Amino acid sequence: MDKTQDIINLLEEYNQGHIIDLLNKLEGEKKQELIKQIDNIDFHEIMELYDNTKKEIQIKENKIEAITYFDKEKLAKDKKNKWDKIGEEIIRNGQYAVITMAGGQGTRLGHTGPKGTFKLDVYGKGKYLFEILTENLKEANQRYNTIIPWYIMTSKENNKETIEFLEKNNYFGYDKNNVTIFIQNELPIVNTEGKLLISKDLKIKEASDGNGGTYSSLRASGCLADMKEKGIKWIFVGGVDNVLLKMADTILLGMTKDLGLAISSKSVVKSNPHEKVGVFCKINGHPKIIEYAELPDKIAEEVDSRGELKYGESNIMCHLYTIEAFEKISKETLMYHSAFKKNSYLDENGKEIIPESPNSYKFESFIFDAFELFEDMGILRVKREEEFAPVKNREGADSPKTAKELYEKYWNKVKNN
Ligand code: UD1
Repeated sequence: MDKTQDIINLLEEYNQGHIIDLLNKLEGEKKQELIKQIDNIDFHEIMELYDNTKKEIQIKENKIEAITYFDKEKLAKDKKNKWDKIGEEIIRNGQYAVITMAGGQGTRLGHTGPKGTFKLDVYGKGKYLFEILTENLKEANQRYNTIIPWYIMTSKENNKETIEFLEKNNYFGYDKNNVTIFIQNELPIVNTEGKLLISKDLKIKEASDGNGGTYSSLRASGCLADMKEKGIKWIFVGGVDNVLLKMADTILLGMTKDLGLAISSKSVVKSNPHEKVGVFCKINGHPKIIEYAELPDKIAEEVDSRGELKYGESNIMCHLYTIEAFEKISKETLMYHSAFKKNSYLDENGKEIIPESPNSYKFESFIFDAFELFEDMGILRVKREEEFAPVKNREGADSPKTAKELYEKYWNKVKNN
């Protein structure tokens, strides 16, 4: 049955006449591809997200509290040893898997291609971000006499390039049979009038749906089932761009298990009230991270009785879950945040427009929005100089320059000890 009329009715209902025009101009395979794409889009959801961009984000300040945490540096020796042992056992027994969120592009960094393919100028020869992550995991494998199954989340945009890059570099020596790559979902981009943008390849322009997509994509791709089959009980999720990321932390694992928690995360002390990091807190009694772009100045600047930032525990994207917790979240719908960005598109004459200022909304869910589904979570505060050196921006804070300095300083210290 020809679906075209149904599709046209749908587009009319949601005021997307420009896409009807495009559809009418297309023939054959291109037309079918567009129909298939439209069929998979939840227009009701997208229009609701668009409507939400006009509402102000409200944070009920009276219900915000600071979060409690354990400071890794200040743990009593026997507790530290106990947690270390518990964590070690989990890893040695092959019950631990790692996910790297690598769906983002290095746009802010000015790098073309998947962010993990960025080469950081360290120790003369330089190292790719993927290479640095691999080294960290290989070291853990050696220490615990195991091979940690490694899952890498890519996006439709960068999947092919990521695989080609890792193949070309022989997975930097990681056992290829233990690396699984899965792809996250996308959502359409909408302009300020609520119209979906058209891309150069004559489709509706879509972009990755944010790192909150990790949960559902892991399940939909079959990777969650694969983990269960392997006997995995704990899942660690980290970003691709922190060159001091520790992906197998026995203390974090031991702490979470010993306290009977289902999720936990690591923090570092915020360097200043306006550092671009998400901060942990409790809202209505539930754990939460408020992302930097959504944190009101007043809350960001608040200090406690000791003169420290009240919301100073910063998210460094080191999240740990029991596999049950992960599965539970994967079946929930997380909220979406909108980001107003520059996106090129084809106009009604088929001409590509490259905007000079933001023109459209991208919708993303955040991985940490799932935390509030739980009564409680563990937070382990760690030392910034040992665990946090992100590569985000071309220059200034969190740039290749700052990451190189932190990386070399850390490793010089380790080598000299
Ligand atoms: C992120 C955190 C922020 C934290 C900071 C520390 C989120 C939403 N924000 O900010 O709270 O303080 O790191 O450095 O987690 N990614 C995907 N798919 C996507 C989008 C992102 O896989 O669709 C991955 C990226 O490759 C990256 C990570 O998620 O590894 C975070 O990227 P981004 O969304 O750019 O967040 P940041 O602004 O870096």
